[in-house]
Amino acid sequence: MEKISLKVNSVTYDLEIDPETPLLYVLRNQMELNGPKYGCGYEQCGACLVLLDGKAYPSCKIPVRDVQNVAIRTLKDLQDDNKLHPVQEAFAEEQAAQCGYCLNGILISSFSLLNENPNPDRAAINEGLKRVLCRCGTYSRFIKAVEKAASRK
Ligand code: FES
Ligand code: FES
Repeated sequence: MEKISLKVNSVTYDLEIDPETPLLYVLRNQMELNGPKYGCGYEQCGACLVLLDGKAYPSCKIPVRDVQNVAIRTLKDLQDDNKLHPVQEAFAEEQAAQCGYCLNGILISSFSLLNENPNPDRAAINEGLKRVLCRCGTYSRFIKAVEKAASRK
């Protein structure tokens, strides 16, 4: 066990923990931040994405010791005073979500993409979302939702 400090959603957490513990486990089990989901555990499916210094990154393998000086943000932090982020609003309007399991990764990816590229074309959106697997194949609605969110920024 070691003392580890993590900054998550602008809150500093001081933990006594095995430094090899994957970030996802701490977010869900100790901080009760359940936006990121456990899917594959191998950085392959995108269900567990979070923002690390503003960029989408899987949290299922990265040990907490490696993210001590990183600004970590989860899905919960995208909302502002209970007001949905434009990306979330667009997804709701387009009824783009089917199951909620991959949705965390898709929203985090979309947010990260639009931060870097406020006016992405289709190719850029496909590239930005490709890290997340959606088994129900609703990608065309995801793309429309991202385009709608981009048009409002
Ligand atoms: S659970 Fe992390 S990428 Fe699949
Ligand atoms: S909407 Fe979640 S797997 Fe497709």
